[in-house]
Amino acid sequence: MEFNTKAVAPETIKADCLAVGFFEDLGMTASARRVDRLTGGAIRAAVASGDMKGKRGSVVVLRGPSGLASARVALVGLGKSTDFGDKAYADCVTATLRGCGAGVNSLVFAATEWKVTGRNAQWNARALVLAARASAFRSDELKSKAAAGAEEERNRRMRISLLADKRDRALDAGLRQGEAMASGMDLAKRLGNLPGNVCTPDYLAGQARKLAREWNLKAQVLDRRQIEALGMGSFLSVTNGSVQPPRFIVLRYAGAGGAGFADPVALVGKGITFDSGGISLKPGAAMDEMKYDMCGAASVLGTLRAVAELKLRINVVGVVPACENLPSGSATKPGDIVTSMSGQTIEVLNTDAEGRLILCDALTYVQRFKPAAIIDIATLTGACVVALGNVHSGLFSTDDGLAAELLAAGSAASDSAWRMPVDEEYQDQLKSNFADMANIGLPGNAGAVTAACFLARYVKGQRWAHLDIAGTAWKGGAAKGATGRPVPLLTEFLIKRAG
Ligand code: BES
Ligand code: MN
Ligand code: ZN
Repeated sequence: MEFNTKAVAPETIKADCLAVGFFEDLGMTASARRVDRLTGGAIRAAVASGDMKGKRGSVVVLRGPSGLASARVALVGLGKSTDFGDKAYADCVTATLRGCGAGVNSLVFAATEWKVTGRNAQWNARALVLAARASAFRSDELKSKAAAGAEEERNRRMRISLLADKRDRALDAGLRQGEAMASGMDLAKRLGNLPGNVCTPDYLAGQARKLAREWNLKAQVLDRRQIEALGMGSFLSVTNGSVQPPRFIVLRYAGAGGAGFADPVALVGKGITFDSGGISLKPGAAMDEMKYDMCGAASVLGTLRAVAELKLRINVVGVVPACENLPSGSATKPGDIVTSMSGQTIEVLNTDAEGRLILCDALTYVQRFKPAAIIDIATLTGACVVALGNVHSGLFSTDDGLAAELLAAGSAASDSAWRMPVDEEYQDQLKSNFADMANIGLPGNAGAVTAACFLARYVKGQRWAHLDIAGTAWKGGAAKGATGRPVPLLTEFLIKRAG
């Protein structure tokens, strides 16, 4: 897909299709009125005939409009202007791509007129790209023949322009941000959707190396021996039952300039390439979905790609502990006590609470970079899905400033998070009779919070936040697949930090 802006009169544009909006309550947008005038009332006729009522997502295609250089006009119903929000905007972009006609290869959107409350033109440009790119995404690399998805195929070749009344650098910036975010999301979705037998810890490491080659990052991949030498007994305890070797991935993007690698933002992503639960085996139903348990890691890679494409003036280090969680004769058992890199010991009361066991060592490790902030991203708890569903990611932080920045980034990028507590009072639940802490709290009791409280013990004195993306990183049901979240939130956060 290609994107650009066009600051010319709509009638002079020579495209396969020009898309103009029609609000249910306000009627024609400015471009629609102009098209109506030039065509001698083609839009009024569509309305009079009952074909266009403004219903959100309805599309009427007018072929060979007179007075216009474009081959078609797509009149797009936008619904009521009073409830035209982020999702409505995206839905209308998607509907236009679907409804404009199979023969359309170049499409011009007069979408700066599709005003969303609280959003500016730059946001419109960015959201146009994100919605369009999402409709061109498909996970088909493991199908033996090209599947029937002709529409995604066509969308991938589509040239899309955003019509503006004057040259506006904010629009171009919005398009570029959208493209970088979309590519980061596509990478995260692709990795998330790959099955555990393909997307192994070593595969993730290979993807990190490839990213480093293509985007001028530094990749370092530690193997079992090196992980042992660092004393990551907690991380290693999770991989005990698996024959796939663990990998500890470190990716550095140095955009701030200057000597060294000062004050990086650290992103730490959970990279469990399959979570069976281990000896504390999960029930069989929908267990396939635990291939998504590396979506935190995928979002780190996706965000680094976006940041590198945007050439942000900031240093970022991405850290991914990657392994499988499987049962076997050599697997960690409930009751086993392991020693983390920090020296703190952990009684593993449930081997299915493995995410925190790999993250705690990564959180300890990353402090050697003296990070300005540490953000970990993890499909950490089913309890977070119970609490927040698939709408908001759970945000936990002991730093109000950092939490506020992340919440704001989430709203700005339509990739929202909701703050949850990490109060001391919950720490009691992690007491162990035999080790410094247990890896689980009380059953059915603030599970997402106690998981965050566990992590908090490894980032004392650090500016730290944790995103639990168990509910937001993928969708179940018929549209099963990874969502690419929270790449937009993280990228927006870093854009703002870079200034
Ligand atoms: N990967 C899961 C969390 C998860 C569950 C993500 C469902 C998405 C959907 C995690 O490793 C896990 O199993 N957590 C346990 C923790 C419990 C044993 C304290 C959970 O949430 O049940
Ligand atoms: Mn688990
Ligand atoms: Zn897990």
